[in-house]
Amino acid sequence: MPYYRVVGEVPRKRHTQFRKPDGSLYAEELMGVEGFSSDSALLYHEHAPTAILDVVGVDEPEQKLVANHPLKPRHFKTHKLDVTSADLVTGRQLLLGNDDVRISYVVADSPSPLYRNAAGDELVYVEAGAATVETVFGVLHVGAGDYVVLPTSTTHRWIPSADEPVRALVAEARGHVGPPRRYLSVKGQFLEHAPYCERDLRGPTQPHYVADGGEAQVLVRHRAGCTRYTYAHHPFDVVGWDGCLYPYAFSIHDFEPITGRLHQPPPVHQTFEGPGFVVCSFVPRLFDYHPQAIPAPYNHANVDSDEVLFYTQGEFMSRKGAGIEVGSISLHPSGHIHGPQPGSVEASIGKASTDEYAVMIDTFRPLQIGDAATACEDTGYAWSWAGGR
Ligand SMILES: [Fe+2]
Repeated sequence: MPYYRVVGEVPRKRHTQFRKPDGSLYAEELMGVEGFSSDSALLYHEHAPTAILDVVGVDEPEQKLVANHPLKPRHFKTHKLDVTSADLVTGRQLLLGNDDVRISYVVADSPSPLYRNAAGDELVYVEAGAATVETVFGVLHVGAGDYVVLPTSTTHRWIPSADEPVRALVAEARGHVGPPRRYLSVKGQFLEHAPYCERDLRGPTQPHYVADGGEAQVLVRHRAGCTRYTYAHHPFDVVGWDGCLYPYAFSIHDFEPITGRLHQPPPVHQTFEGPGFVVCSFVPRLFDYHPQAIPAPYNHANVDSDEVLFYTQGEFMSRKGAGIEVGSISLHPSGHIHGPQPGSVEASIGKASTDEYAVMIDTFRPLQIGDAATACEDTGYAWSWAGGR
């Protein structure tokens, strides 16, 4: 995270005596990434955050990945993956993945267990519904259109609102996710050309303190699988923290699109970067305003990346006739040249604006395909440019 935040009570100097009303010391926890050589947060717990009573290996249902072979552009209809009851952590259905990132879809209507991912940051895009994300740093209230960034090892849980299930696309990174470096000054402030800035990021504003929380179990994801820890004290016992490492939410509705006389290239839509992937936001915007402009994108070969586009709201002009709908995901792999569907180019001429919302994840290593993706695949998509379905 690029900027400093302080929440709740912290002592005047770090690593000094900070006492509870009963005179005993609060317990410090310094949470630092990259071996304490990068961003960190210093949290103050009522109880020692180290006190574990038990650890148990958790066997997860196997979610296989297979190569995209023979190489095909693909279309997955995620809304076919609805389930009767699930939570946002254990109910994830793996769609796509490689060594850098795993992309899942989840429909959640029940609270998740306490959870932390020790293998990397998580980026959750909320397609629909609303939820409270309780974390050791405080609470985030999130809803449709929010990206939620949960730094590696943040203990948290997801609680969907009672009104409707949360639909979300989850990217589990094998490293850290944040704003693109080119948007930031050397010291970490958002620059004027960035399509969003500090004011658009929503972090916790007060501690989330559970009095007398007692023993608690936390599901810990790590490189080798999942382990369930039993703690002597509930982890939500933080009275204050400060630093530049914390979870935050950013609404796609706060992304300010960059437009031009002629078609702008995909990087103007970039929102986040992670290890081996980027995330872009396509939002309602004015189309290109040169008198001869063609608003539809040109055919393109994404030479060094696999391109995943999650269509979340509005009309998708360039995909007309391809069966794309809200909740669809297209995968345009490296090695396949893709572009607008037949007729879309002519149809786009003279259009003034678009109302589409879509989230794109471009990975630099090839993506493999999960069983859940295969289960909701529209197998005719590959032939849609040739007019067949
Ligand atoms: Fe593309």
